[in-house]
Amino acid sequence: MRQVWIPKAGAPEVLELREAPDPSPSPGQVRVRVEAAGVNFADIMGRLGLYPDLPPMPVVVGYEVGGRVEAVGDGVDPSWIGTDVFAMTRFGGYSDVVCVPEAQVFRRPPGMSAEDGAAIPVNYLTAWQLVVAMGGLGEGETMLVHSAGGGVGIAATQLARWRGARVIGTASASKHEFLRGIGVDHLVDYRTEDFEKRVMEITEGRGVELILDAVGGDSFKKGFRILAPTGRLGMFGMSSAAVGKQRSIVAALKTVASMPWLQFNPPALINENKGVFGVNLGHLWGEIPRISRWMDSLLSLWDQGVVRPRVDRVFPFAEAAAAHHYVQDRRNIGKVLLKP
Ligand SMILES: NC(=O)c1ccc[n+]([C@@H]2O[C@H](COP(=O)([O-])OP(=O)(O)OC[C@H]3O[C@@H](n4cnc5c(N)ncnc54)[C@H](OP(=O)(O)O)[C@@H]3O)[C@@H](O)[C@H]2O)c1
Repeated sequence: MRQVWIPKAGAPEVLELREAPDPSPSPGQVRVRVEAAGVNFADIMGRLGLYPDLPPMPVVVGYEVGGRVEAVGDGVDPSWIGTDVFAMTRFGGYSDVVCVPEAQVFRRPPGMSAEDGAAIPVNYLTAWQLVVAMGGLGEGETMLVHSAGGGVGIAATQLARWRGARVIGTASASKHEFLRGIGVDHLVDYRTEDFEKRVMEITEGRGVELILDAVGGDSFKKGFRILAPTGRLGMFGMSSAAVGKQRSIVAALKTVASMPWLQFNPPALINENKGVFGVNLGHLWGEIPRISRWMDSLLSLWDQGVVRPRVDRVFPFAEAAAAHHYVQDRRNIGKVLLKP
């Protein structure tokens, strides 16, 4: 098999293509021949040496793939063989063959390509947890989503519109036209405008009911301030810690230091009728039955045309470094994938 490895922390150029013998599925596993593998911001944080969950380097990252089952281990129904699927991988997704537990594999419905499949798990499960499971976004409410043009941002926008909510998005200006087209009602260019001020103008001083924030640091503080009564702040990342293409612990620590360590105290939450919650899909591997139920809901929304991943670019494995540059240069609108 061919895999993209991170041998050591550093710039995208550290990524290395290596070959190894094909793995055999263990009992309870299926082996998938991969046609597309998802790139996530977590992979970039991993490459920068800023991702606490990363197994020791050298490591193959990657949480999701689309492809076809070509073998099964003991105890798995052989009728899986030949089935078009997508799957969640606990690292190791940047490979042209993966072995995964049967419970982490999902059949691709008609019309869903391997690329669509590889673009769904992380972005849509995270968006589901934020918007529906924990965020409880209701009809007529307003959601603010940061990095609206990213994979999670687009997934969250689709779910918010399905729930009948109004969407305010922050994104680089070059993405605004596209985002308007998929139903983001108001756009803020966070590079030139203060999102706190703009959101209060847009909502005429009321604030928003739900915020999805993976920027982190100071952004959490501002978000808390612009929650309307009963508003919820969903925190799920710290992309502002990824400053530059090389590892910088100092920059990461600055982001950590600027977090609202004292602001979210019980009296403030009670008296202001505000909620804060955190999401880390990568810490839900012990909850696969719950994840499967969320995925069933998402697949039913696929059938209804609500869930529609936007694949921006597909890079060959040999150009994995270019894929990481592309995301870090903030150029992607939607999902970036690797193709063996
Ligand atoms: N906790 C979880 O379970 C979970 C799961 C999935 C993703 N996440 C987090 O959600 C965020 C979005 O993830 P994604 O995979 O969908 O990636 P993505 O949205 O494609 O992220 C890239 C986009 O983020 C924006 N951005 C903001 N700060 C950035 C920075 N310092 N460097 C580069 N880009 C920056 C840029 O868009 P604009 O310039 O247009 O804003 C960029 O295009 C990431 O922080 C990720 O770690 C968390």
